[in-house]
This record gives sequence, C-alpha cells and structure tokens, in this order.
Amino acid sequence: MPATAATPPRPPIQLLPDLLISQIAAGEVVDRPASVLKELLENALDAGSSTIQIQLEEGGVKLIRVSDDGAGIAREQLALALTRHATSKIASLDDLERVGTLGFRGEALASIAGVARLTLTSRQRADSGHRAAGGETSESGGSGGTAHAWRLAGEPGASPEPAALLAGSVVEMRDLYYNTPARRKFLKSDSTEFAHCAEAVKRIALAHPEVAFTLAHNDRVSLHLARSDAQRRAGAILGDGFLAESRPLEVSAGPLRISGYCALPAYSRARADGQYCYVNGRFVRDKLLAHALRAAYQDLLHGSRYPAYCLFLEIDPATVDVNVHPQKTEVRFRDSRAVHQFVFHAVQRLLSTPLATAPAPTADGTGLAQALNGSPAYWPDGGAGSSTTSADAAAFAARVPYQCSLGVGEPSSSGAYLAFIDAARAPAGGPPATLPSPPADPDLPPLGYALAQLHGVYILAQNSQGLVVVDMHAAHERILYEKLKGALDEQQLATQALLIPAVFSAEAIDVAAAEEYAETLQKLGFELAPMGPRQLAVRRVPALLQAADPAALARAVLGELREHGVSQVLTARRNDFLASMACQGAVRARRLLSVAEMNALLRQMEETERADHCNHGRPTWTQLTMAELDRHFLRGR
Ligand SMILES: Nc1ncnc2c1ncn2[C@@H]1O[C@H](COP(=O)(O)OP(=O)(O)OP(=O)(O)O)[C@@H](O)[C@H]1O
Ligand SMILES: [Mg+2]
Repeated sequence: MPATAATPPRPPIQLLPDLLISQIAAGEVVDRPASVLKELLENALDAGSSTIQIQLEEGGVKLIRVSDDGAGIAREQLALALTRHATSKIASLDDLERVGTLGFRGEALASIAGVARLTLTSRQRADSGHRAAGGETSESGGSGGTAHAWRLAGEPGASPEPAALLAGSVVEMRDLYYNTPARRKFLKSDSTEFAHCAEAVKRIALAHPEVAFTLAHNDRVSLHLARSDAQRRAGAILGDGFLAESRPLEVSAGPLRISGYCALPAYSRARADGQYCYVNGRFVRDKLLAHALRAAYQDLLHGSRYPAYCLFLEIDPATVDVNVHPQKTEVRFRDSRAVHQFVFHAVQRLLSTPLATAPAPTADGTGLAQALNGSPAYWPDGGAGSSTTSADAAAFAARVPYQCSLGVGEPSSSGAYLAFIDAARAPAGGPPATLPSPPADPDLPPLGYALAQLHGVYILAQNSQGLVVVDMHAAHERILYEKLKGALDEQQLATQALLIPAVFSAEAIDVAAAEEYAETLQKLGFELAPMGPRQLAVRRVPALLQAADPAALARAVLGELREHGVSQVLTARRNDFLASMACQGAVRARRLLSVAEMNALLRQMEETERADHCNHGRPTWTQLTMAELDRHFLRGR
C-alpha cells in the first residue's frame, strides 16, 4: 500500500538520560509540595530523629526545609543519597519483604532533585559511623563521629563542601518544578498547597507522638507539637472534641493489634476527612480497611455521614506488602480476610458496648436478651395510660424483683432509688433540703433514675454525675431495633395476638399480597387475614411492636414486600425494614410515662448494644454534669 511510504521513520530505541528518568519517576512520587514534604519527613523519621522542624515558603512551592536531629549522613554517602536506587534501608529481597522503615525504594531524593533544587546538609552522628560504606569515616574526628557537617547540592558535578550544623540533617528543596514549568501549572494556590502540607505533617505526627514537630509557613509558626503520648497527640491534632466523643480501642489477636480512637456517631462528618488509618506506623488509604470500618459503623450512621477515627494497625511486616504504590499509601495484606474480620469485629464491638457491663448470665444459662424478649409488658401496652403518672414508691418497690431478674437492679441501687423517690415525692413546696444531697451514690446505674418527663419528649434522670436527658422515642427506637434484630436472628420473634383484630381498608393489590406473602409475614411476626375484596384484618403482630398502630404496621410491611420483594426484605433490606418497624413501634412523643416505665427504659438502654445512638446516628441521651451546671449557675465563684 502506498500509504506506508509517507510514514516517518521510527526513532531508534535508546536509553534515557538519568535526569529524564528522575523527572519521569518524580511524576509518580512528587505530585505537589505536600508529597515532597512527606518524603522528607519519612526520611527524618527513618533516621531516628526526635525533633523535626519544617519551614515552608509560598505553600511549599518556593521552599521546603526539613531539619532533623537524626543519625545524619556521612560525607562520602551524600552523593549516593541523591542517586536513584540507592538506599541504606534494604539490601536484599528478604529485607524488602519485611521492611520496617518508611522508605525503602531509594528514589525519593533523586526524584525530588529531578524537579527542584535540592541541597543536603548533614552531620553524621558519632555512633552511626558504621553506616558509611566500607566502614570508613575518614573525616571523623577520631571518635567515629564527624568533625563537622557537609553540604551537597543536588546538581550534576557538585561535590560536598564543609558546612555548619550541630547534628542531624537539613534537607532543603527550593523552586519546585522550576525546570518543568508545565507541571507547575497544575499547582493550586499557595494556601491550598500549604493546607496539603499541613495535612501531611498531621498524618505523620499522629503516628509519631514521641517526636516533636514544628511547622512554620512564611516565617510564622502554624503548628507546634511537643513530644507526648498517643492520646495527647491525638487530642492536639484531631481536637479535644474528637477525643471527648471517641472511645479508645486496644485489641490484639495473635500477630494483629489495633489501637487508637473511634469517634461515636454523634461526631460523624459530612466528608471523609476525619479518617486516619495506619499500618505499622504508615498512613494508608486502604480499601479493605475502609470497608471494614464502614461496615463496623453501618448500623450507627446515616448513609450520607462519614465516621471519624484514628486507628493504628500493627501486623507482622512479612505479611503485608508495602511496595504496591509509588507513594506507599496503599498496602496489600497477605491474609486480607483475617485483617478485615479482625478490624471489623474490634471496632464493631467497641461501638456497640452497652453503657453497663453485661450482666452475669442467669442461673439457667439463658442470656439477658431472652429474658427481655419474653418479658411481660413493663413497657407500654397501649391501654395503661390512666395510671401512668400515679405510680408510687410502693408500686415501684413491688416491681423491683422484676428488675432484679433482668440483672440490672442492684439491691443497693434500688435502695438508693427508693430514698431518692421518697424525697422527690415530698409535698410540693417543701424545703429543698429534704432532697438527698447530690454527689450521689456511685452505685447508681449509669443512666441513674428517672426524675420526670419533659414536655412528653425527654426523660430527665439523675445519675452520679448529674442530670441525664434522654430522647425517649429515639432511645426506645434503638432498643426495639436491636431486639427485633436479635429475635429474628435467633428465630425467636415472639408474637402477640390482638384481642380485637384491627380491620383496615386496603388496596386490592395489598389484599392479594397478604395472601401471597402469608408465610413471610408469619416469619416477620404478622398474621393478616382478608376480610373482603378491599379489607384486611391484622390478627397478630410482633410482641415487641404491640404498642404501635397495627394497621400502619401492616401497611408498612406490605409496602416493603411489594416494593422490594420477599428475598430483599429478609436479606439485604432487612435492617432498614426492621428500623422502620422499630420507629413505628417506639413510644411516641407526648405519651405520658410512669416513673417506673421511664426507669425500665433507662435500664434497657444500659443493656442494649449501641443504645447511645438512634438508628440514624443521632444521640439518644446526653449528660449534664454537676460541674457543668455549677458553672452555668456560677456556683462556687
Ligand atoms: N534526613 C535524613 N537523615 C539521614 N539519612 C537520610 C536522610 N534523608 C535521606 N537519608 C539517606 O538517604 C537515602 C536516600 O533517601 P531516599 O528518600 O531517596 O530513599 P529511601 O528513603 O531509602 O527510600 P524511598 O525512596 O522509599 O524514600 C536513605 O536511604 C537514607 O540513608
Ligand atoms: Mg525516603
């Protein structure tokens, strides 16, 4: 074909010059100032530094200077440090497979030198002379240490010059992308680049509380972190608000260990910016870990919210491959399933721990859940409204044995409650002195005892720290939801026949669905019978939901089944379905509760997993401590 004649000759294959190789490699490693900073900080940490100072100018584009007090580099090694594929951190495949340092590729400095002006100034520490090639520390002052520091510019043909530096290394990068202007165009504003740099420092500093960091931008110190411990460092970086709303985690299983903090759902965020995950001290964005964590929070968070956490996974380095990403922000686990399960269970357990410690198993070995599920209605039976506010201490006392059988009412705390309620029931207008003195009995249950109901929405209770305010609908909703899940899991969903079946008018399609899905409905605790072409009767409902409007419940179930199908409702959508059932069954606002009912709710909250938050992640209760109240009323000033 004649067309081939016009094709220009193909250029020959040739080796690329070193500089171009570094510039290509830099494309992967150095995508903005923050990634240069990350590499320099990792080098400083690998050198065993305990104080690291960072100076930036113009978002790190003009200058990044990292000064450390680490082991330093010998004069004759300076040039090697800037050479590609030269590293002191590994020497064999074996080392690579169990690498314990943050760096190991021997390419960061070479890549940076390819796209910016780099200078290394370093003074080798006296006791690290052995690091020098061949053991020579020729310019050492006789003691194995280096008499003074040396500086080497990262330019072809440069040689080390004497410099002044007391200890450690100063690595200085100037004018990022000065020789590759096309890449400069991709940089954002100085403040954006600086924000990324600050984030890089925070990520690294979180994992290294034993190292002090100072970050200055355009000569102004923007972050100073003294040497401290993990908790204080987390507070300093993530904020005390995060710590206050988090639970600490520390779990080991064989070679796996996880520690850190998981924020409770109330601290959830609209973006995934509060998520810090580390593997052997290295910040990673790992899909597997993210998935395990997402799953652990699943039942607690609304779909559009993101959990916040700071977690450190430690694992045998031989079982994790860190060499899968140029910036080393991804890892591959040899046994990914085990890691996933471990992280998921550790975090899920942490988040679902009830307020009170689990009660001792009952004598016959049955668990609490069963006791609660099969319990007579201590809880709204729909018709007991008349006596709800007149429960007196005697009536409460009569119910105490019932509480004991749940393993929640300690005799001493019942006594405390009786004394408490006696005082509370003193004739109105009586002197406040008759109330028991506040710093209450440490034996009080965690959520204390109910004092009153506020506008039919909140329960007010007194515990040893002060005042507890409970959103009764949200709390009851969570309790019902957890019980429904447990009962279905154990196929022990108790049902309640309605004395008078609730008849309601329905669409023909609902009447048909009631017949078609009779078996599934039964599994879910419902019995519906057609009463005519457009009428259905609810005969039986789950006992847990007996306080709900049966017709509304039945409509909701039929709607779910029609829309999503039997298999979905019993599997993937099951929890959503149960959550909407729980919402229907939960005590409504404005419903007056007796003190005994309120106390029963508090005790159940203490025993229910994840009771601190409703199914949508909103908190179910809050604490106002005596100290907070005293502050508010300026007491003791
Ligand atoms: N701040 C420092 N203190 C002491 N030695 C350093 C410092 N920075 C770099 N080095 C030495 O220079 C070598 C090269 O550093 P470079 O960052 O290029 O590679 P690396 O850290 O070995 O691997 P990676 O490319 O994965 O970061 C290191 O192996 C280390 O010996
Ligand atoms: Mg490095």
